[in-house]
Amino acid sequence: MKIITVSTQKGGVGKTTTAINIAAALAEMNKKVLLVDLDPQGNATTGSGIDNMNVKTISDAMKADIEGTFTLKDLYISSNEEYDVLASNIELANVELALGNVYARESVLKRVLEPVKRKYDYIVIDTLPSLGILTANAFTVADYVLVPILAKDIYSLQGFDALVHSINVVRRCINPNLEILGEIITMYDGRNKNDKIISQMVKDDERTNVFNSVIPSSTKVAEANRNGQSVIKYEPNGKAAEAYRRLTEEILERME
Ligand SMILES: Nc1ncnc2c1ncn2[C@@H]1O[C@H](COP(=O)(O)OP(=O)(O)OP(=O)(O)O)[C@@H](O)[C@H]1O
Ligand SMILES: [Mg+2]
Repeated sequence: MKIITVSTQKGGVGKTTTAINIAAALAEMNKKVLLVDLDPQGNATTGSGIDNMNVKTISDAMKADIEGTFTLKDLYISSNEEYDVLASNIELANVELALGNVYARESVLKRVLEPVKRKYDYIVIDTLPSLGILTANAFTVADYVLVPILAKDIYSLQGFDALVHSINVVRRCINPNLEILGEIITMYDGRNKNDKIISQMVKDDERTNVFNSVIPSSTKVAEANRNGQSVIKYEPNGKAAEAYRRLTEEILERME
C-alpha cells in the first residue's frame, strides 16, 4: 500500500485533474484505489461524480478525531465505478480552522485513514493550493509527493523552494519516508513556443526530476471534469487519457 499526494501551493495547475486521472488509471490496472479529497473546494469529489452536498465527508471523520471520539463509523467512503472517494466540501474549511489549536494536528488524516488503508493498493490525495495545515496532514501520511507544474507559467518554479522546504521539515520531524517522486508538466500546448521554453527550463532545473510523460492541454479535460468523470473514462482513447496512463506507468516504475 502506497500513499501519493498531489501537492503544490500553486493554484490551478492541474492537481485535482492529476489526482483524479491517476486514481482512474490505477483502477483501470485493477488496483484498489481510494481518492482522498483534502481540499474544501471539493473538486476531486465532484470531478469523480460524487455529490458532495448530500454525503458525509472527510470533515466528519476529522472532527471526530479532533474530539477524540473517532471510530470507523465516522468514516464515510463514497465510490464511483472506478475507485472509492473520501469526499470533501466547504465544511473542511471549518475543520482547517479548528485544527489551529489542537495537539498533534498534523496527524489527524493519518489516524483517520489508519483503519481502512490496508484495504487499498494505492491512496491518492488531492490537496488545496496551500502549504498550510491540511497539506501538512497529507505530507504526514504520504509516501510520495507529485508536483504538477503548469507549462505556460513563467513563474512555474517560483515557490518551489518553499514547497521543498515544507516537505523537508515534515520528513525531518514527522515522516522520514516522505519524498518528492517527480514533477508533472501539465496543460502543455506543443504549438506554443512559450510552453516549450518553460517546460525545458523546468526539466533543466537541477532541483527537479520531471516525468517524461507530459499532460497535453485538452478541452476534453474540462468537459470530463464538468461531467464528473476522469478523462480516462470520458475520452478513453484521447491524448489526455493516454498521457495520464503513461504517467501512471512511470509513477509505478519510480515507486519500485
Ligand atoms: N490537461 C488539461 N487541459 C486543459 N484544461 C485542463 C487540463 N488539466 C486541467 N485543466 C483545467 O484547468 C483548471 C484547473 O485544473 P485543476 O482543477 O485540476 O487544478 P488545481 O491545481 O487542482 O486547482 P486548485 O489549485 O484550485 O485546486 C480546471 O478548469 C481544469 O478543468
Ligand atoms: Mg484542485
